[in-house]
Amino acid sequence: MNNFIEDVEEIYNFIKKNTDVEEKIHFIETYKQKSNMKKEISFSEEYYKQKIMNGKNGVVYTPPEMAAFMVKNLINVNDVIENPFIKVVDPSCGSGNLICKCFLYLNQIFIKNIEVINSKNNLNLKLKDISYHIVHNNLFGFDVDETAIKVLKIDLFLISNQFSEKNFQVKDFLVENIDRKFDVFIGNPPYIGHKSVDSSYSYILRKIYGSIYRDKGDISYCFFQKSLKCLKEGGKLVFVTSRYFCESCSGKELRKFLIENTSIYKIIDFYGIRPFKRVGIDPMIIFLVRTKNCNNNIEIIRPNKSEKEEKYKFLDSLFLDKSEKCKKFSIPQKSINSDGWVFVDEVEKNIMDKIEAKSEFILKDICHSYQGIITGCDRAFIVDRDTINSRKIELRLIKPWVKSSHIRKNEVIKGEKFIIYSNLIQNEIECPNAIKYIRQYKKSLWKEENVKKERESGMSFNGGENRKFSKKRKLYSHTNHVTIDLLLIREAILVQIYIP
Ligand SMILES: C[S@@+](CC[C@H](N)C(=O)[O-])C[C@H]1O[C@@H](n2cnc3c(N)ncnc32)[C@H](O)[C@@H]1O
Repeated sequence: MNNFIEDVEEIYNFIKKNTDVEEKIHFIETYKQKSNMKKEISFSEEYYKQKIMNGKNGVVYTPPEMAAFMVKNLINVNDVIENPFIKVVDPSCGSGNLICKCFLYLNQIFIKNIEVINSKNNLNLKLKDISYHIVHNNLFGFDVDETAIKVLKIDLFLISNQFSEKNFQVKDFLVENIDRKFDVFIGNPPYIGHKSVDSSYSYILRKIYGSIYRDKGDISYCFFQKSLKCLKEGGKLVFVTSRYFCESCSGKELRKFLIENTSIYKIIDFYGIRPFKRVGIDPMIIFLVRTKNCNNNIEIIRPNKSEKEEKYKFLDSLFLDKSEKCKKFSIPQKSINSDGWVFVDEVEKNIMDKIEAKSEFILKDICHSYQGIITGCDRAFIVDRDTINSRKIELRLIKPWVKSSHIRKNEVIKGEKFIIYSNLIQNEIECPNAIKYIRQYKKSLWKEENVKKERESGMSFNGGENRKFSKKRKLYSHTNHVTIDLLLIREAILVQIYIP
């Protein structure tokens, strides 16, 4: 990885120089040949490959087909004809997967409509000027990752033969001052939950974005708020983000903010289908306009079913315009409120209304829902039978470890793992073996910011530890928490867990 970063640095410094374009291209091609990098591979692809190889598995970048889909559905020909100086920005542009697609798309629009653009705007753009015009006047980006920004500039140079130093800046979009407004935002903002954000950074974000970023909020919420602040009235935004905020308690203020300040015109709800490789995120793509008028309809596009087999059919029909294998319908924006967004068509809505009318109570009237146990260090607390026996861990502390993957329709399958329920330890002398076992991981336990802050001994875990609740009857749904709604209550089953 270090070598790659040094190479990027060298190439970047070369293309920054005021030399001939041909010479710069030759320099890059020679580099690719020498390092066995395929000609058609972008530096961005190589950068992410290297990041993943270096163990950064959660790295998400926008796949090319999705990037092209977002651009095409966001900017239309008229936007460019009306305003050839349209300012498009990616607030967390990384190595430019979205920006490069924007360039290719705008380039086509300019080439095909050059005459009308010139006559309408009193311009005299020539075909040969278009690339320069787009790179210097239309595209902008920010990111905290300095290498990613350099990679973006190299890839953009390769497709445009243009180089802009100042339009793509190493900046923390959320914290630093952004001194201009933009016509269009396009992004795949980082999705980082409260547990993974450094406490001092979280404190700063709460100070700036306290109205929407609190409790279990995600930093992507702040990207919505700051982007809308920097978006011109009537400007458009598209983000691919996690759909979690649509239903979560922590997303309530963001939902309210979006309903009150924007007109949402299209939502792609992947509905359990996961288009990002190696990343456990349920995404959505949301398109909106900054305006307070919300008398619009939202077009919802969803797979027919949330099953895995639907994945490729849905993605092909969405991104490659192959035969339609998706469900499309519209709902009035006025029909959604900050309590939670559920996107259902007329038929589903009628069924839900009937169930609701006939129900004497709803889920929250009959049960509480809590987050499960977060150990902070599974290696320290989760054990198998052999470990329990060989380490003679005190049996009164041992409880079954039930994960959501163990929950099936009509049953909870028995896992092979158990948790050392250390919160039951009242007196350390009574449970020496358990303590000895957990203590091996003391270093890792202390590294966990949450555990460190909240647990003095570093020997216990967060969440779900309240025995009052773990002894109660539980309502499990075999569907994942994202899709639980009134319709699914029928499919949920009551299971009594017997804690030995
Ligand atoms: C999911 S990646 C998206 C990258 C790129 N837009 C794409 O679609 O492939 C998120 C990016 O956000 C950047 N990032 C994280 N925090 C940021 C911040 N506060 N300001 C700007 N960029 C940030 C990361 O460095 C990363 O490149």
